[in-house]
Amino acid sequence: MNAEGLYSKRKNSYLRFIGAMGYPQGLRAWFRRSSLLRPGLRILDAGCGSGIVTLALRDALCERGMEPAALNAFDLTPAMLEHFRSTLEDRGIEEIELQRANVLALEELPQTWRDYDLVVTASMLEYVPRERFADALAGLRARLAGDGALILFITRNNWLMKPLIGRWWDAELYTRQELEAAFAQAGFSALSFHRFSPAFRHLDLWGHIVEARP
Ligand SMILES: C[S@@+](CC[C@H](N)C(=O)[O-])C[C@H]1O[C@@H](n2cnc3c(N)ncnc32)[C@H](O)[C@@H]1O
Repeated sequence: MNAEGLYSKRKNSYLRFIGAMGYPQGLRAWFRRSSLLRPGLRILDAGCGSGIVTLALRDALCERGMEPAALNAFDLTPAMLEHFRSTLEDRGIEEIELQRANVLALEELPQTWRDYDLVVTASMLEYVPRERFADALAGLRARLAGDGALILFITRNNWLMKPLIGRWWDAELYTRQELEAAFAQAGFSALSFHRFSPAFRHLDLWGHIVEARP
């Protein structure tokens, strides 16, 4: 099954699964402590799904009294975007712009969706074919402003994630060395690896957090 089929069919199981893992809470805690936040940021969430990362970022900015200049998000799966839209409606949030798009065809995005200070992408690039992974990173890099940063959350390739995410969620998994090679191939010049906040250290067993600069 392709990613769109998977997330159309298993949207609710995905939301229950990540809730049980403390993933939304872990992302929220990470962004709350992040030194990347400042007023006037242009932000893109690539593969936003139901909006967990976009909303974690927005709420972290709001808590510090900061407003973004742009908060845009795209995803391949209409069912996930619908879920996100209804959350935005329920919460009365109007400033987030959503679009359906494939990370491997970013020309589908509006012309104005570029020069981002932050591009965040979480648990999505696992669905790009391995041989296109560096291309997807290069496409996101091209959307960054010169001093922008790409923040990637992605599943590790380890003994626990192979059955849990690799097989159950039909995802590609990556080692740190594979990520370093792919980011270099995509033209990024500086990489740093981060960890989840102390209360969510268990999520370090799940995923890498990479900050990459052009
Ligand atoms: C595991 S969910 C992650 C969603 C969200 N980022 C999060 O952290 O909860 C994976 C998402 O990636 C999206 N996706 C998969 N392949 C994609 C592609 N080629 N382009 C854009 N989105 C894609 C799916 O539709 C799904 O919503």
